[in-house]
Amino acid sequence: MVPPKKYAKTAKTAPEGYETPNKFFQCVFDDKEMIWMGQNTNHLHDEDIIKDAMINFVESKEYCKYPPPEGFEELKELILKDLELENMDILITAGGTESLYLCMEGILEPEDNVITSDPGYLIIDDFASRFATEVISVPIYSSDNDYKLTPELVKANMNENTKIVVLIDPLNPLGSAYTEDEIKEFAKIARENEIYLLHDITYKDFAREHFSPADYVPEYSITVFSFSKIFGMAGLRIGAVISIPEVIQSIRSILINDLGTNVIAQAGAIAALKSKDNWIGKVTSITRNNQILIKEMVDEIEGIFIPVYPSDANMIAIDLKSTGINPKTMANYLLGRKVFTRQGNYTSNLFGDDYLRVSFSIPEEDVKIFIKEFKEGINVLKK
Ligand SMILES: Cc1ncc(COP(=O)(O)O)c(C=O)c1O
Repeated sequence: MVPPKKYAKTAKTAPEGYETPNKFFQCVFDDKEMIWMGQNTNHLHDEDIIKDAMINFVESKEYCKYPPPEGFEELKELILKDLELENMDILITAGGTESLYLCMEGILEPEDNVITSDPGYLIIDDFASRFATEVISVPIYSSDNDYKLTPELVKANMNENTKIVVLIDPLNPLGSAYTEDEIKEFAKIARENEIYLLHDITYKDFAREHFSPADYVPEYSITVFSFSKIFGMAGLRIGAVISIPEVIQSIRSILINDLGTNVIAQAGAIAALKSKDNWIGKVTSITRNNQILIKEMVDEIEGIFIPVYPSDANMIAIDLKSTGINPKTMANYLLGRKVFTRQGNYTSNLFGDDYLRVSFSIPEEDVKIFIKEFKEGINVLKK
């Protein structure tokens, strides 16, 4: 018998009525009518450029060959150009998730600790806890610190064993983003204390502004990149990790996907980056307008509020605490009405009972259905 490993709590639990988390996800995936506001995915790509590039690749049948193990050179160059980080090194991975894991394994020694935030993306804590002595998850759900992990909070929580500070920018689930001054301040902390800043930029292109620690402290910056959100390619499982050659060299030595990443996904990713200017304006403007509609609805309901508005990501949290409605109850109610959202405990161990997370890079008509169902849900569940 192999005993289960004891890591930080994993986020996936089966909702009521489902035998396993996987059966739940299968059921939601299979339901073609389900409105998809639960995974921060992007359903707004109606152009065919990415799809056609993948179909062309399939038709070439070149998928019988292994790809270059670290990714197609063209894709590597396009990502670095997109980020204006041409002097850095890069590995293509099967998504930001794999990149996060590789960073933790590649950098951490057993005596180290890692600073993350709560709320935050909990799988990062889980990965960190596999390699570090401690994960210091700093509570940030407060207007006192603008609902984000500030440089001051990092200074107050770090110690001589801190090796990585995780900055999710913009933050899943709240949508808070960092100013240029904050990024500069983090860079200063990193340089003075020889700490790595793990900059998870999964939601970067939804933000109004974006600043990179790699511009200020490249030697202590690692950037985690994903094609799942703005590019609308979550199911293709593709991303990257970017840092200075020494860090990437360390990661190379612990690679699992030694034979490379899915070639069809890479062909789609190349087309996605090359065509970005053609579609990004449309995707961000629909997303931002959807956010306004949700805000107007929230403002009409007494007591509930959006902690971070506007959100710089494609999701927001709606704080339900004053209604007495548990976010899990609301998420289950909405699921029954074919709207998939996420209760807070998916992204928080401390504040999970406070908020519901909804993502809105979906067609406006679907957001309107959500608004109707959510309002009804408040009335029904309050009783
Ligand atoms: C902050 C953050 N990082 C990484 C990921 C996962 O990205 P990928 O789909 O590229 O593995 C997510 C997914 O929701 C996320 O919210």
